[in-house]
Amino acid sequence: MCGIVGYIGHREAYPVLIKGLQRLEYRGYDSAGIALYDGSEINLSKTKGKVADLKSKAEGEISVQGSLGIGHTRWATHGVPNDVNSHPHYSNSGDLVIIHNGIIENYESLKKALIKRGYTFHSDTDTEVLVNLIEEVQKTENVKLGKAVQIALNQVVGAYAIVVFNKKKPDELVVAKLGSPLAIGIGEEEFFIASDASPFIEFTSNAIYLDDEEMAIVRLGKEVKLRKIKDDAIIYPKVQELQMNIEEIEKGGYDHFMLKEIYEQPKAIKDTYRGRFLANEGIIKMAGMDDYLEKFTQAERIIVVACGTSWHAGLVGEYIFEDLARVPVEVEYASEFRYRNPIINEKDVVIAISQSGETADTLAAIKLAKEKGAFVFGICNVVGSSIARATHAGAYTHAGPEIGVASTKAFTTQITVLALLALKIGESKGNISKVELHQYLSELEAIPTKVEKALEANEHVKYIAGEYKDASNCLYLGRGFNFPVALEGALKLKEISYIHAEGYPAAEMKHGPIALIDEQMPVVVIATRKGHYEKVVSNIQEIKSRKGKIIAVVMEGDKQVKDIADHVLEIPETVECLTPLLTTIPLQLLSYHIAVMRDCNVDQPRNLAKSVTVE
Ligand code: AGP
Repeated sequence: MCGIVGYIGHREAYPVLIKGLQRLEYRGYDSAGIALYDGSEINLSKTKGKVADLKSKAEGEISVQGSLGIGHTRWATHGVPNDVNSHPHYSNSGDLVIIHNGIIENYESLKKALIKRGYTFHSDTDTEVLVNLIEEVQKTENVKLGKAVQIALNQVVGAYAIVVFNKKKPDELVVAKLGSPLAIGIGEEEFFIASDASPFIEFTSNAIYLDDEEMAIVRLGKEVKLRKIKDDAIIYPKVQELQMNIEEIEKGGYDHFMLKEIYEQPKAIKDTYRGRFLANEGIIKMAGMDDYLEKFTQAERIIVVACGTSWHAGLVGEYIFEDLARVPVEVEYASEFRYRNPIINEKDVVIAISQSGETADTLAAIKLAKEKGAFVFGICNVVGSSIARATHAGAYTHAGPEIGVASTKAFTTQITVLALLALKIGESKGNISKVELHQYLSELEAIPTKVEKALEANEHVKYIAGEYKDASNCLYLGRGFNFPVALEGALKLKEISYIHAEGYPAAEMKHGPIALIDEQMPVVVIATRKGHYEKVVSNIQEIKSRKGKIIAVVMEGDKQVKDIADHVLEIPETVECLTPLLTTIPLQLLSYHIAVMRDCNVDQPRNLAKSVTVE
């Protein structure tokens, strides 16, 4: 996610802003920038790369004087990472400058209207559109900056945390929030703005956290004025005295990045599908996909290449594509595919899935597929990553940076993109009616709330983790759409708790694994009513009769499994093809709590890297 910082007060702003950006580096970013007001002009410097690169560039090219300024670390969503697309952005007149964390969904239509009024644009970003919209409103309505921001934001659809100032009124910063975090640090004759308190906690522990649809005018020598963006209603600020330390703030108050990212999934899934469909109208629009729809609808076969958790998401994709789009799908480990001399032709579509966008095996598989004439589509979480650039087209997951080595929100957001692709292809091929499409999209729209419901089982999962934290082995079983979730649950457990775990199709038990069952073997079984339920129940009974311990993931209200399993974890009901988005949640929590109880390094497990950029 982007990081924003702002300062107005009695200090030199530059050191405060640079150190603040360094505090926000943990959020993940690909470029950085700063703008300072030196008493007469705005001096701006920005660059692709790290804060250290910004520091050396800024000190070499601009005056870093002044007590008013803003700074930004960018996690690209619109426009690849480069100097021009970095923030801050000037308005056309050069009087206004803005930084922004979020996504403006309707920026293209706003941009067209501004171009018609003579505005020009230097970057591909939605943010540059916003600052010029504010400028246009301030000019045409002849209002102060705060009012112009308010009017402009009422024309915007999307998510934002912005800081903007006008050099003609250098005693104030205007901030606004919807969907992205923004905090105001209240000092003695000084104010700090940031994505969280880590940039200013050393200066003040008094902070105001804006709520969604709130804005504030932060003026020296005055109280902070909070307003509702929609109707200008006055809000009386609640100043909090913070007790957190820096590390706690970076993890959002969670003990580990992995737990933070597990809990970010409702937002990550929503951000991933945001602006990509209209459920009521039954419309799906994904830029990278729409331009190449024919490739998919005429494909003889779809081959997925990926590694690890991304491979598991691809396997869920196989079930979804074959069910909804009726296209044959093969899922390949990229590390095998690249050396197998696979039979591929130009009628094939290859989908490469990667959170980091830098996995060497997946990159090599893409290169091979392209050499053999296939159309290659990428699903990545890092904008501008090597895989994003190596593929013919693609769609980003908007999960935000995933810091924990164990992939969690990447898995669920990858499945979200795959579901949208399958629905789009299925509808284009006439395999899905408009009514069915509406039903699926409405169910997808309800998923974030259902993930939140699934997360409520956390304390119960923690209790179960305590029962099995000393196990030496564990089996994970699932059928249909949830067979890949069993594999993913096993991977989560083994990679962070170091307990040996294996995932199997539940019916495979009688072909060998059942020999492993005894009272020392916990077995996690995904037994949702949507997937071959009766057969899974009989698998559970086979295990119980051999004294195996059963941890069952079931639909809310299930009675039958509850009577035979040792432990039950409930998830809300949804359509079968979307159940993986919910069944994976208790399994992520289970592996997390067991790993914590075993004093393992949850965020950086032994022997593992977040991105395997070597063979
Ligand atoms: C999953 O928890 C692991 N961190 C690992 O399997 C990971 O999914 C795999 O290395 C692929 O990474 P990618 O998605 O960045 O390509």
